[in-house]
Amino acid sequence: MRNPALNPQSVPEPIGKNMSNYYNMPKLPSAKSPMVTIKVDGKDMQVPGDTNLLEALQTVGIETPHVCYHPYLPVSGNCRQCLVEQEGPRGRALVISCYTPVAPGMVVYTPASSARVKNARRAVSEFMLVNHPLDCPICDKAGECTLQENYIEAGQDESRLNGDVGRNFHGNPAHQFVDSKGQLRGGKRVDLGPRIVLDEERCVQCDRCVRFMRSIAKSEQLQLASRGDRTFITTFPGEKLDHEYDLCVTDLCPTGALTAKYFRFQKRVWFLSRTPTVSMDDSLGANIWLDHADGFLWRVMPRCNPDVNRTWISNTSRLAFLEFSKNRLPASPLDAVREALKAPGKVALVAGGECTLEDLAALKLLKKSLGDRAELFGGTFKKIFPADGLSKSGDPMADRAGFKLMNVPDDNLGDLVKRASEFAVLVTVNADLFGEDASKASSLEKIATRIALAAFNTETVKKSQVAFGVNHWSEVAGTMVNCGGLLQKLSAAPTAPDAALVPAYSALTALAGNEVTEVSAAYKLAQGEAPALADVSFESIRSTGFMLDGVKA
Ligand code: SF4
Ligand code: SF4
Ligand code: FES
Repeated sequence: MRNPALNPQSVPEPIGKNMSNYYNMPKLPSAKSPMVTIKVDGKDMQVPGDTNLLEALQTVGIETPHVCYHPYLPVSGNCRQCLVEQEGPRGRALVISCYTPVAPGMVVYTPASSARVKNARRAVSEFMLVNHPLDCPICDKAGECTLQENYIEAGQDESRLNGDVGRNFHGNPAHQFVDSKGQLRGGKRVDLGPRIVLDEERCVQCDRCVRFMRSIAKSEQLQLASRGDRTFITTFPGEKLDHEYDLCVTDLCPTGALTAKYFRFQKRVWFLSRTPTVSMDDSLGANIWLDHADGFLWRVMPRCNPDVNRTWISNTSRLAFLEFSKNRLPASPLDAVREALKAPGKVALVAGGECTLEDLAALKLLKKSLGDRAELFGGTFKKIFPADGLSKSGDPMADRAGFKLMNVPDDNLGDLVKRASEFAVLVTVNADLFGEDASKASSLEKIATRIALAAFNTETVKKSQVAFGVNHWSEVAGTMVNCGGLLQKLSAAPTAPDAALVPAYSALTALAGNEVTEVSAAYKLAQGEAPALADVSFESIRSTGFMLDGVKA
């Protein structure tokens, strides 16, 4: 679906090929998986034959609790939470489903038919909590904690733990302290680096964070130190956890051990609502959740899309939301823009890389309404970087493939700069040309009338006589095409700082004399411009996108 060169991990090693433990990437089920029959709880079931048992069971609706397993990390099989029974030559034995390859004819028992599996999972869950602090009420992970979920799933609603035993885990000896009740405690609020805090007592040593830094971020900054029940997570002596993807470990951590400084204690997660959308800062279009409450964004989380960014996003994309509500342009009447467009002479219409297909269709409509005197331009002065292999293609022009699809120029700003004196009016739409490169953009000051449609009070807005505030991409529904040709949907989070703000497509269609306020109608305009969209209705675009053949950035 996407450019495989973007992600070196896109071809995982099959489980079982090298059983040397620890660093085998799970092979996940796919449309091409050969189906095999296995017996689960006495019933024959068809499951993908090239994956592990945990994934295979999931395809037939059987969820298996797990802590250390993660579909996009090498399998380490250390938590023992995912136990099932498998029939073997020596009878039924408990095996970990995350590291057991599916084989045709295998006979498996889950808690639905095996009291032994049920008890074993319950015991593992209980065992894992023996040294765990009673922190849930003050823990940031509460509400989305794997330990809590597994504990409830195992039907343990009552603790058998004696308060006098347990609590023997004190992590790094250097971080131990005696609390106000005179009890020896493990490290709390351990500063791991600029963005992450560790609570050693809550760590269950699943080593997901270690595997992520080692195998995905490819910068081994975390380690398990010491042995047995003294094992603890740490950085190398004198070093900090500091990496462009380090906040991913806070998503991966199944407990409240690793928390992000920017989010901890800001909001209880059960008060948050989620809006699925696409990050418009890069042409890979990383899939994200916008977590919001009370009209504010509280955090941005990766949204799993196996063909795009899997479950990773960079810190830059994740933390960009901190600026989304700042320095905004307020809503204003469109009349001033309408008047300014009447200036005699040629009009340069410039689309920025964040423009959705709907914005581009609306811009083309405006061009048509202006007749021969209007010309379309598009692109960015920003640099293109190499792909990082995880969640970024390196091209800051998010919808470049969408520009190509809609037949809007995506790289002719140089031409505009050269011919600036030909134009009487400049209209920029979410294109901060002066902010991106002031010296290149300076010749655009030759254009007498400058109009900016923008979400923020940008440098380009400051250089314009007329400015019109529009919704930011996090506040609009629409579509974009990523660099691999995947048509993706944006949804609007209800977080606009001014309820009167409208999407750019709405303002542009109004200027063209045919105002469109609904995204489905705006998408129809885009369909009219791009034959490849003709048979793809807005409603039919799934949350993981729709692959358009032959469209690429
Ligand atoms: S990690 Fe936090 S929420 Fe989860 S069980 Fe531990 S204290 Fe409770
Ligand atoms: S810090 Fe979290 S992710 Fe890392 S080993 Fe501990 S529980 Fe697992
Ligand atoms: S999930 Fe299988 S051993 Fe941890």
